[in-house]
Amino acid sequence: MNDRLPRHIAFIMDGNGRWALKKGLKRSIGHRYGVKALKRIFEYVFELGINYMSIYALSKENLKRPKEEIQTLIELLNEYIDDCLPQLIKNKIRLNIMGDISILDDSSQQKIKMALEDTKHYSDKALNIAFNYSGRDEIIKAANQAIKDGHGEINQEIFEKYLYTASIPDPDLIIRTSGEQRISNFMLYQSAYSEIYFTKTLWPDFTKKTLDAALDDYKKRHRKFGDIK
Ligand code: FPP
Repeated sequence: MNDRLPRHIAFIMDGNGRWALKKGLKRSIGHRYGVKALKRIFEYVFELGINYMSIYALSKENLKRPKEEIQTLIELLNEYIDDCLPQLIKNKIRLNIMGDISILDDSSQQKIKMALEDTKHYSDKALNIAFNYSGRDEIIKAANQAIKDGHGEINQEIFEKYLYTASIPDPDLIIRTSGEQRISNFMLYQSAYSEIYFTKTLWPDFTKKTLDAALDDYKKRHRKFGDIK
């Protein structure tokens, strides 16, 4: 029995498209409602005292989707950054972006860089947004950078400094919504010992109650990290 809350919780926010189609709406509306769910869960996570939260907002592989859908997700990212920046600053939460944001236009990239700059001094809490992200690419990029920096041989401690999550603890709990049960290239290195919770709830329907159920389940898990205790 583990009576502690996770220090770091991560969400694979799946099911926006299905949620919308079930209601006869366009997929993009599902993503908009996905942001509403994100906002309520972001507040609740930090209110509970969980200091690190990661979200999978767009995978590199998602770029195969129709341009219109990608454009919606880019717009939503822009709006979300504008919206949550005051909250990040008020609550001393660092913004961290994982992934390649060079697909965004200059003004969006500039806005994100400013938000990163405005919050970079906060070290105890972080919101990690994975956007145009691939766990495999992250690992390869880190290895290449370590080589470029002249490391002949590296260990975990050195390698982890090259990941997007440098100085952020590994996720204790990863939640995937919508009934899909896979990790989909998300935080591959960092999830080595993460507990994983799958729920059939579609992301736009995810509420504080759904999170409470996941946390209750997490508390029952016996984390051994390879040990026998
Ligand atoms: C997967 O659901 C979800 C995504 C690819 C995007 C997740 C994005 C959000 C929740 C909102 C955007 C948030 C930001 C910060 C940009 P899906 O569309 O694959 O659903 P489906 O499997 O039912 O089709």
